[in-house]
Amino acid sequence: MVLSTGSNKIKTAVFISGAGSNLKSLIKFSKLKKSPIIIKMIISNNFKAKGLQYAKIYKIKKKVFDFKNALSEKKIIHELKKDNIDLICLAGFMKILSKSFIKNFKGKILNIHPSLLPKYKGLNTHEKAIKNKDKYSGCTVHFVNSKLDSGKIINQKKVKINKLDTPKTLAKRILIQEHKLYPSAIMKIFSL
Ligand code: GRF
Repeated sequence: MVLSTGSNKIKTAVFISGAGSNLKSLIKFSKLKKSPIIIKMIISNNFKAKGLQYAKIYKIKKKVFDFKNALSEKKIIHELKKDNIDLICLAGFMKILSKSFIKNFKGKILNIHPSLLPKYKGLNTHEKAIKNKDKYSGCTVHFVNSKLDSGKIINQKKVKINKLDTPKTLAKRILIQEHKLYPSAIMKIFSL
């Protein structure tokens, strides 16, 4: 994958909508010497996203947009280009980006999804895996294309489903794996 790096690390924006635990793990990873990325911006569609606290804690620029229409997407694209953002990590980001947005950052948007894709695209993945009596679920990091949760898979981690699991207990165990999977996906794509 060829990306322009500006300084020597890839300028990255992380998009969140909620708690931001994946954001936190990416920030921690970005501070390691071996990390190819530096996180320059946190973007959210939700003023109340708990994860926005990490902007203050780690002194990272934050921007909140409503993502409601083409105009707000235009503003975001402008903001990202202005800061030479070369990688976008979606991390618990609950909005679907438009085709034109994705085109603007072709091959440079990653997402983490709490299932073993191509199984269970979209919402309520843990409910679906338990209901179908699957033995395993897990998480996937993939490139974002214009079809929901369908871009090229970078890596996955399997998590065993226990008999007594509820969507909540399963989500909790998968989330722990997500925190390791996202950094390892980034390592993988930039060492290719
Ligand atoms: C994660 O399970 C992510 O895969 C999903 O939403 C959750 C977000 O968690 N899309 P957090 O905001 O990173 O804590």
